Amino acid sequence: MHYSNFGLANTKTLLNRALRGGYAVPAFNFYNMETLDAILKAAEITQSPVILAVSESALKYMGKDILMGLICGAKYKKNQIALHLDHGHSFEICKTAIDLGFSSVMFDGSALPTKENIKISRRTADYAHKFDVSVETEIGTLSGIEDENTKSASHSYTDPKIVKDFVNKTQTDSLAVAIGTSHGAYKRKSAKESLRFDILKEITTEIPRTPLVLHGASSVPQKYVKDINQFGGDIKNALGIAPAQIRKAISLHITKVNVDSDSRLAFTAAIRETLAKNKKVFDPREYLTAAKEEMTQNCINEIQNIMGSGYKI
Ligand code: G3H
Ligand code: 13P
Ligand code: ZN
Repeated sequence: MHYSNFGLANTKTLLNRALRGGYAVPAFNFYNMETLDAILKAAEITQSPVILAVSESALKYMGKDILMGLICGAKYKKNQIALHLDHGHSFEICKTAIDLGFSSVMFDGSALPTKENIKISRRTADYAHKFDVSVETEIGTLSGIEDENTKSASHSYTDPKIVKDFVNKTQTDSLAVAIGTSHGAYKRKSAKESLRFDILKEITTEIPRTPLVLHGASSVPQKYVKDINQFGGDIKNALGIAPAQIRKAISLHITKVNVDSDSRLAFTAAIRETLAKNKKVFDPREYLTAAKEEMTQNCINEIQNIMGSGYKI
């Protein structure tokens, strides 16, 4: 099935429009009906374009049939919502997503030698473009020791000198860059640490027309960290990227901002609080409703205060 039959948007179109407009399209990860619904509600309320991101492990968790059942069942306003494979680690998983009806895929070859990364990125782009599906690729690696996805403890910034050649050779539609973010909720030792805007500026000078992607961009709202710790959790020292830094990155051509950890925090904080305050509750719909609503609220806040993507459809 092609994504246009579900009413989904072309990701490249959303990103190129954001690049011209100076804002970013949020890519929020989801893994079940509640998280999908939370994101779609936020998109509807803010009238923002949104990318629904599915990681390889989320695809495995939901299973293809349930995932595509959920996607088929939802209603989308024209050119608002895209469906994206997040961190596809092989050509084969990208092909699976394209064949299922995703509007874009990320081939993440960041851990590979550059030559190999270029080869598989190009193979993915050649296949994807036959179906008007967009491709995101990455050079440089993000750290994130607790990240389930990359398991990478090392960090190497994107080298601005190689991005032009990489984009030309791969024919990628967007490029993820490593400028100091990392996956997960423990990104920073101090709120003062800064992203490498010097590197980002060099990259935008080299490839001014390529939409850039920022992974690991959660701001880790401290109210959720506090609530989780207060109501029985233990995530002390969780610290994210300050919203002002993300906004500055957006002014320097970051046009897709990936957020997962903040949604997890909002969702979990609401569940912990609801259960702690209502000891007799055992109907999952009660705490899942609270979780869904808190996640929607967080997505709305980020769309309005970080992405600048509200009323851009
Ligand atoms: O960047 C990774 C996303 O946060 C997805 O993580 O593989 O645990 O679903 P996941
Ligand atoms: P966070 O862990 O910062 O939310 O990053 C999510 C991400 O990059 C998904 O690809
Ligand atoms: Zn990521």
